Amino acid sequence: MQRIIVATDGSSGANRAVDTAATLAKTSGADLVILTIGGNITGAELRELAGASGDLSKTLQEAANKVLGQARKRALRIGVRTVKLQTGWGDPAETIIDTVRRGKADMLVVGRRGRGRLSGLLLGSVSQKLATLAPCVVVIVP
Ligand SMILES: Nc1ncnc2c1ncn2[C@@H]1O[C@H](COP(=O)(O)OP(=O)(O)O)[C@@H](O)[C@H]1O
Ligand SMILES: [Mg+2]
Repeated sequence: MQRIIVATDGSSGANRAVDTAATLAKTSGADLVILTIGGNITGAELRELAGASGDLSKTLQEAANKVLGQARKRALRIGVRTVKLQTGWGDPAETIIDTVRRGKADMLVVGRRGRGRLSGLLLGSVSQKLATLAPCVVVIVP
């Protein structure tokens, strides 16, 4: 196991995925890459954030940085030595798969659910697509 990618949208489900990925990276000695696909915020959040800077691309990058920064803290607390942070843009599932391919990751870790509000679903739409289409081992954390 050389490279583990964990994808996070900042949700509690994704936080559990970060903790699992960090533990796996620590015990296996693999590199850990924390990935977020930006732009996944509500209109209200966008208005609130954009009010501060007025620059949309900067606002979205800042929102992504916040998600990544919090995830890095969790991973470091668990004892991973090196953590790489990455932001992607576009359709979350497609962009995550693309990043896994380019980064030659051996394992992808995601939460079962994310920030979505369709609470009846057992699996979120992103985790469902990844489970089906990702070109590597996928770990789905409940
Ligand atoms: N924008 C995103 N960037 C990175 N990872 C994501 C993103 N959206 C979802 N994920 C990953 O997929 C998991 C499941 O989320 P998702 O399928 O979107 O469920 P929901 O429908 O509940 O939002 C999350 O816990 C996270 O690991
Ligand atoms: Mg979602």
